Amino acid sequence: MTLQQNNTEFEEFANDVARCLSSKNKYISPKYLYDKVGSQLFEQICLQPEYYLTRTEASLLNKHAPFISKLAGSNIKIIELGSGSSSKTAILLSYLSSQKKRIYYFPIDISSSILIESKRKLKSQFPNASIIGIRSDYETGIDRAAAECMAIGNNKNIPYTKLVLFLGSSIGNFELIEAQSLLRSVREKLHTNDFLLIGFDLQKDKSVLNAAYNDKAAMTAKFNLNLLARINRELGGNFELGKFNHCAFYSHERHRIEMHLVSKTDQQLYIGALGKTFAIRKGESIHTENSYKYSLSQIAALAEDCGFTVEKNFTDEKRWFDLALFSPS
Ligand code: AVJ
Repeated sequence: MTLQQNNTEFEEFANDVARCLSSKNKYISPKYLYDKVGSQLFEQICLQPEYYLTRTEASLLNKHAPFISKLAGSNIKIIELGSGSSSKTAILLSYLSSQKKRIYYFPIDISSSILIESKRKLKSQFPNASIIGIRSDYETGIDRAAAECMAIGNNKNIPYTKLVLFLGSSIGNFELIEAQSLLRSVREKLHTNDFLLIGFDLQKDKSVLNAAYNDKAAMTAKFNLNLLARINRELGGNFELGKFNHCAFYSHERHRIEMHLVSKTDQQLYIGALGKTFAIRKGESIHTENSYKYSLSQIAALAEDCGFTVEKNFTDEKRWFDLALFSPS
């Protein structure tokens, strides 16, 4: 397990919080939602009845695992961006191991605790698979994973297929140009016979989307508010969570869910690690996440722009979710 939890990371978080709170438009990267508590809350979101994404994607993986498995020879190296609990990937690993494939799995995640925990579980479920966890954000992670991929299990020069997974609509967090930049970095690491499998949440009726991000059990609200709790824990903030509202809505024009924390009052926010106080007005928001929803034609355009061809679109009957299989063009 590669661990790299250091000062620079603390400083990056502190700087991003400072930048966010001192801007007029208070935006902060959604990656900060995923500390240990946040990652656990996200797992709870995935179980909520309104949050159709995880269930739908899992059933698509179940259904199409045989097809995906056939793409690979007897050796497969799987790199996953944002692996989280790896529970959906386990569906694929299970099928691949039933087909007696030699599996190398390189999960990349921002949260070290979730990586350690999921590696432990996978090791007992798939004792023959090699699991090499990489604690990193995506851009650095893909470079490191590609390097590890070349270094590990290659001594006999046995050919292998590389499969990069980017599941769960995580790509939805990115602006189009960021998504393009990431997919181009992935493309650089792939050979002609490798594949990239991406989970896209599709554009659909707004009521379905709004419900998914405003679940009745308020798990999404908890997940969102945990960002403030994290700032309190790690940066000595004095946020009162009760003084903010969770707000998530679908913007039809922008094809995205926006998630915000809206201040209920005019208040002063003190951050110990920065030794600074910031003001926020009643009704003002801290924008914590965007979650873009795609159409199949946007997916095709994205693939083409990044040097890929859409090999398959695996969609559910309602056309709510798409598992898109890209191959290098
Ligand atoms: C992990 C980014 C795919 O956008 O649906 C869930 C995160 N935010 N509920 C999503 C999330 C609020 C999730 N992604």
